[in-house]
Amino acid sequence: MKISKRAQAIPPSATLAVSARAKELKAQGQDIVTFGAGEPDFDTPDYIKDAAIKALKAGRTKYTAAVGIIELRTAIAEKLQKENGLKYTPDQVIVNIGGKHSVYESMQAALDPDDEVILPTPYWVTYTEAIKLAGATPRIIQTDKANSYKITPQQLKEAITEKTAMLVINSPNNPGGFTYTPEELASLAKVLEGTDVMVLSDEIYEKLVYGGTKFVSFASLSEDAYNRTLTLNGFSKTFAMTGWRLGYAAGPLEVIKAMGRLQSHTTSNPVTFAQYAAIAAFADTGGTAEKMRIEFERRGKYMAQRLNGIKGVDCCESTGAFYCFPDVSSHYGRNINGAKINGSLDFAKALLEQANVALVPGLPFGCDNNVRLSFACSLEQITQGLDRLEKWLG
Ligand SMILES: Cc1ncc(COP(=O)(O)O)c(C=O)c1O
Repeated sequence: MKISKRAQAIPPSATLAVSARAKELKAQGQDIVTFGAGEPDFDTPDYIKDAAIKALKAGRTKYTAAVGIIELRTAIAEKLQKENGLKYTPDQVIVNIGGKHSVYESMQAALDPDDEVILPTPYWVTYTEAIKLAGATPRIIQTDKANSYKITPQQLKEAITEKTAMLVINSPNNPGGFTYTPEELASLAKVLEGTDVMVLSDEIYEKLVYGGTKFVSFASLSEDAYNRTLTLNGFSKTFAMTGWRLGYAAGPLEVIKAMGRLQSHTTSNPVTFAQYAAIAAFADTGGTAEKMRIEFERRGKYMAQRLNGIKGVDCCESTGAFYCFPDVSSHYGRNINGAKINGSLDFAKALLEQANVALVPGLPFGCDNNVRLSFACSLEQITQGLDRLEKWLG
């Protein structure tokens, strides 16, 4: 059967592929430690599940407005005002089917063929494909380890052309585990003044910051930044709700309206009873998000310290999200137990096959010198996995 050129050009998600292979090996009885997961290992809190059950029992099982129920959009607008200092009306908010859908749909709404999107490395794998699916071109900017893998104002300035339609900022960053400081973001915002460049600020990891790191929303930096920014966020990471598929976007009314039109013909509304549970999630009286944050901070610190203790592994301590992204390139060129290691793909493959440890190669994130390890797993697993990695490299 014929497959469209568009679909043929899309590779499977590299992060999901690692998880799938690790699961396959586990199913064959192998004892695999997996650092591949991009999701909290905590269960969704009971108060959120209870709200979903209540909504189901109350018959919240029908279609809603395609853009999401007004109560949830109002709750999101209030959250953005209270926590992020962003003033949006509920009409400027759309609820999507996960943050991934927010990324896809916003690019479909805002980009045309011939547009360029500035994408600093390392980038979440979905951005490149969503940009290409919108017919636009990713303009990948290679960042520097010396600048903690963050794009500099000078690099941004040099990357802007008459074709530039968008800049993607993802802080805290997947896979890098770093967070831009408010000052760094402000200096990037300054470069954009006087241009027509829209900013897509993916803030899905906003609650997961460590070591006193301060999170700031890009749109809150100035009036100019507010007017050019689409803020993306979701429930997956903050409330351990990955399977509920709820994300959202807030920004200029015309962009949100365009996304709403697309949504009305593609997915219609996000799951109805999940939307009611999402309203309840914001209450978070038990401090679930903070408890997870504290635990992730402990694990992240330990993981970075252990990684840095392994010869030829160089890792910055994570200031956000739940990833370490060490540079392992000093091992490239080696032959480990018969496997030639010529890059991050070889590294990840050989480590999984020979030492039963799953991690994600850096190449699909635009950084072949690195690999990504998620610390959304127990401290025991981290210890066991890193013992294996150390032995394997040693
Ligand atoms: C940077 C980033 N943005 C968005 C998402 C989307 O999350 P979800 O679709 O589960 O809401 C992810 C998930 O891994 C992510 O890492």
